[in-house]
Amino acid sequence: MARKVLAVLLPLLLCLAGLTGLLLLCIPTRDVREPPAFKYGIVLDAGSSHTSMFIYKWPADKENDTGIVSQHSMCNVHGGGISSYAEDPPGAGRSLVDCLNQAIEDVPKERHSVTPLYLGATAGMRLLNLTSPAASDSVLSSVTETLTQYPFDFRGARILSGQDEGVFGWITANYLLENFIKYGWIGQWIRPRKGTVGAMDLGGASTQITFETDRQIEDPANEVKLQLYGQSYRVYTHSFLCYGRDQILKRLLAGVLQRYNSHPCWPKGYQTKVLLKDVYTSPCTSALRPQHYDDNAKTTLSGSGDPILCQQLVSDLFNFSSCSFSRCSFNSIFQPPVAGNFIAFSAFYYTVNFLQKTMKLPVTSPEELGAATKALCNESWEKLLARDSKEEARLADYCACATFVSQLLVQGYKFDEDIFPSIAFQKKAGDTSIGWALGYMLNLTNMIPPDHRNFYKSTDYGSWVVLILLFIMVILIALAMLFCFAHSFKSQTAI
Ligand SMILES: *[C@@H]1O[C@H](CO)[C@@H](O)[C@H](O)[C@H]1NC(C)=O
Ligand SMILES: *[C@@H]1O[C@H](CO)[C@@H](O)[C@H](O)[C@H]1NC(C)=O
Ligand SMILES: *[C@@H]1O[C@H](CO)[C@@H](O)[C@H](O)[C@H]1NC(C)=O
Ligand SMILES: *[C@@H]1O[C@H](CO)[C@@H](O)[C@H](O)[C@H]1NC(C)=O
Ligand SMILES: *[C@@H]1O[C@H](CO)[C@@H](O)[C@H](O)[C@H]1NC(C)=O
Repeated sequence: MARKVLAVLLPLLLCLAGLTGLLLLCIPTRDVREPPAFKYGIVLDAGSSHTSMFIYKWPADKENDTGIVSQHSMCNVHGGGISSYAEDPPGAGRSLVDCLNQAIEDVPKERHSVTPLYLGATAGMRLLNLTSPAASDSVLSSVTETLTQYPFDFRGARILSGQDEGVFGWITANYLLENFIKYGWIGQWIRPRKGTVGAMDLGGASTQITFETDRQIEDPANEVKLQLYGQSYRVYTHSFLCYGRDQILKRLLAGVLQRYNSHPCWPKGYQTKVLLKDVYTSPCTSALRPQHYDDNAKTTLSGSGDPILCQQLVSDLFNFSSCSFSRCSFNSIFQPPVAGNFIAFSAFYYTVNFLQKTMKLPVTSPEELGAATKALCNESWEKLLARDSKEEARLADYCACATFVSQLLVQGYKFDEDIFPSIAFQKKAGDTSIGWALGYMLNLTNMIPPDHRNFYKSTDYGSWVVLILLFIMVILIALAMLFCFAHSFKSQTAI
């Protein structure tokens, strides 16, 4: 009798143990506990054309982990970028007030004093620092004064280098796509084996390209070595100053004023007044600036909607004639062949999205991008307005932008028909905007440590699989024992 009880009890106990093991392995611990409190971080992205405020959040108990920082909210500052306040520096600080007041509301009060606040300025301020370092310093002091008046943990207002901007954009994209490290489905950290994606950013005053490469990087200025989560990455990066959307438009206008009497990239039927000061006060147009011009003069310019002439005008922005390395993108800048997948955000996204959504044209190859651009450049102002009147302020410039993007990607970076389809034009990953801001915060708050730290303390992926299989086997053996026992019991009672 005792043996019979044992024969039933043992498999049952085994079964129970197996099930408990499986449950313990499969239920992520954080789901069992109460939802964790959040921590917050704020980054002001002071771009050349406008400033955006991003508030990020992450579970307080996972400060050093990854894959878990997401965008909590954002705010667009009204008016121009902080560099546009060169003649009224206090205005730069004042412009941020509305968004900072929103941050006071968005971040719970008890977290205010421990919430880091950063301001990073990009190419607009790099240009101002070139033309007038004193004005650039006044603008930075003004925003610093405003930011220190808020209850957050303000950690400085800085101008990012082009290299930082490129690398932090690359870090953001790969962090959000979980290419560095990822929270596994059974509650542990795993290092995914997929590679990283390249990042292309088109801002108002500069454009950046950043990607991992196994080729030699012939110009040390383009090489960045990163150590993230115990893994080494060698990244090529370059930032082209004066190749952002707004500066490109100014440079094209300066070229038109010099040579033509109508703008070939503007649609037929479009006409506007151009303030000469707006065109010429940028260091990006200094080579085309007439010796004498009236600062306040306006000139009326109309569009001629000529795709071929527009292409020629845009091609003058690129210099392919010299290269002191084995290969260059343009302007004598070294670039290894583009490889792998890419994500193209900011104005790259807006431009291609306009071709796809508003013009309803496909953009999956260099040929299609070229054809779509031509079709856009050939549309009259009237027809364009009928397509999207809400975009009126930017509508006339889409042809120039698309022509520029097409030449930058195809002739400049040399995306051919084989690799062009590996570009994803995308501005967000999940709910989080892709740009340098998140990568900047992650680095400055030490959330992407160079070493393994505690990420691999938990059993690694292989052992988890083995353990799960083991528990399943235990259950199967127990079931088999029960079955055998039931069988023999039956045959015994039959006798
Ligand atoms: C995160 O790392 C820092 C520095 O190593 C450490 O001081 C801090 O306690 C860690 N925080 C958590 C929640 O593990
Ligand atoms: C402005 O440019 C100078 C010269 O390149 C540089 O030393 C300085 O750090 C820049 N200013 C800021 C605030 O970055
Ligand atoms: C292209 O760059 C080279 C070297 O910097 C320069 O000599 C040449 O004048 C440039 N060409 C044009 C068309 O700007
Ligand atoms: C440009 O538009 C005109 C009508 O506005 C049309 O007749 C012509 O075929 C178009 N050309 C191209 C290349 O699409
Ligand atoms: C990240 O921050 C550290 C200092 O906290 C700095 O030394 C490092 O260069 C930064 N990384 C990048 C890519 O700029």
